[in-house]
Amino acid sequence: MKFYIHTFGCQMNKCDSEHIAGLLLSAGIQPSNSPKECDIIIINTCAVRKKPEEKLYSLLGRLDSLRKKKNVFIGVVGCVAQLYRSKLLDKNPFIDFVIGPDNYWQIPRIIPTQDEEKFISTSWSRDWHEISYAQTIRESRISGYISIMEGCNNFCSYCVVPFTRGREKFRAIENILSEVKDLANKGYKEIQLLGQNVNSYRDPKTGKDISILLKEADLIDGIEWIRFITSHPKNFTIDIGIAMKETKKVCHQLHLPVQSGSTSVLERMNRGYTREEYLKKIETLRNLMPDISLSTDIIVGFPGETEHEFQETLSILKKVRFTNIFSFRYSPRPLTSASKNKDSVSFEDKKRRLIELQALQKKIQMETNKSFVGRIIKVLCLGKSKRDPHVYSGRNEGYQVVNFKSKNDVIGQSVNVHITSYGPYSLFGQIAQ
Ligand code: 5AD
Ligand code: SF4
Repeated sequence: MKFYIHTFGCQMNKCDSEHIAGLLLSAGIQPSNSPKECDIIIINTCAVRKKPEEKLYSLLGRLDSLRKKKNVFIGVVGCVAQLYRSKLLDKNPFIDFVIGPDNYWQIPRIIPTQDEEKFISTSWSRDWHEISYAQTIRESRISGYISIMEGCNNFCSYCVVPFTRGREKFRAIENILSEVKDLANKGYKEIQLLGQNVNSYRDPKTGKDISILLKEADLIDGIEWIRFITSHPKNFTIDIGIAMKETKKVCHQLHLPVQSGSTSVLERMNRGYTREEYLKKIETLRNLMPDISLSTDIIVGFPGETEHEFQETLSILKKVRFTNIFSFRYSPRPLTSASKNKDSVSFEDKKRRLIELQALQKKIQMETNKSFVGRIIKVLCLGKSKRDPHVYSGRNEGYQVVNFKSKNDVIGQSVNVHITSYGPYSLFGQIAQ
């Protein structure tokens, strides 16, 4: 028997899919790269914005036709599964099971039997459910995801995540560190510690926080770079900044979603900080680590966002000069408090604001990337460039994409690259002699 997993969404979902694949393998089911040649198809879904949810429905349409030709067992898991539960089955009767993010451990129990009965599991547990990582099938053999917490207690007014991932729960520090050691022993060079709100991490037994976790992970031999994502500005403390500065392996790189540059919008978003408080944290971080590379998330067109409030978002981009941003048009999500207000900014205005924002950021990135030309920087080679098989591709400490030429195969190695040119989204160079 063979399975295929289609994953929508963030690193957290990719990490979950790697564990689901491991669970299936331990139940004797083999991975397959093709949905047409497998017996079980699992779709790991994302509910954070309307777009990935719509993509899921079009994929389900295609699976419905596949199911008519071939007998496959189809499961929908993840955030959309958690959100709509049995309604998904009512609308798509060909789905065999629906499992929420808190219940993946049940997968090996249900799949081998392939019962006629539909299976729905979307209950919450208050405590962390440890899944053995021994069999996890990871996409990369160089950079590995490690989950440290789940859920979110923040209830930002636009965000569905607290309703799909539930309240915060934390993984035991000894299990996190033993997974880091396991990856180091397997030759991994980089780890990414994951959670919806990693700054609120607390070891359930000892209360050790993320700054201590970073310091303890830093002592593990073999790993060269440690990253952590996602940080909430409200919970980002000076201790975390100091841990980043004082450790050897924790990258001077931080994703710190600001969402808007306007204090009034931030208040309506229930973010728990003002524009000035965010900028103060950035200043503190840059004083600690002048070389820090910062990225962020931005939502344009939040209900009631005025032209002036949008200009404040543009101005925060000019002030901070992020290395990279992820920007989105606001879309109302089920159960969120913002969805009760009128989605008042027109689609045209959202579209125009997004284009303007992205054009400004592109200009900033061109300027930042230009300043790298002539420098020799450390790059972890993660594979070959998708466009050109003679070009290798990796990331620098600041998590920028670096494409480079090399005579030898250096995949999985840290190499020095001499930067010779650039574009808005990547740097280009050749291995330094
Ligand atoms: N509309 C648009 N973007 C959203 N995000 C979260 N919820 C919404 C929404 N309703 C964005 C935020 C978040 C990222 C993961 O997705 O910027 O940080
Ligand atoms: Fe959503 Fe806010 Fe929690 Fe992030 S912090 S997952 S944006 S509710």
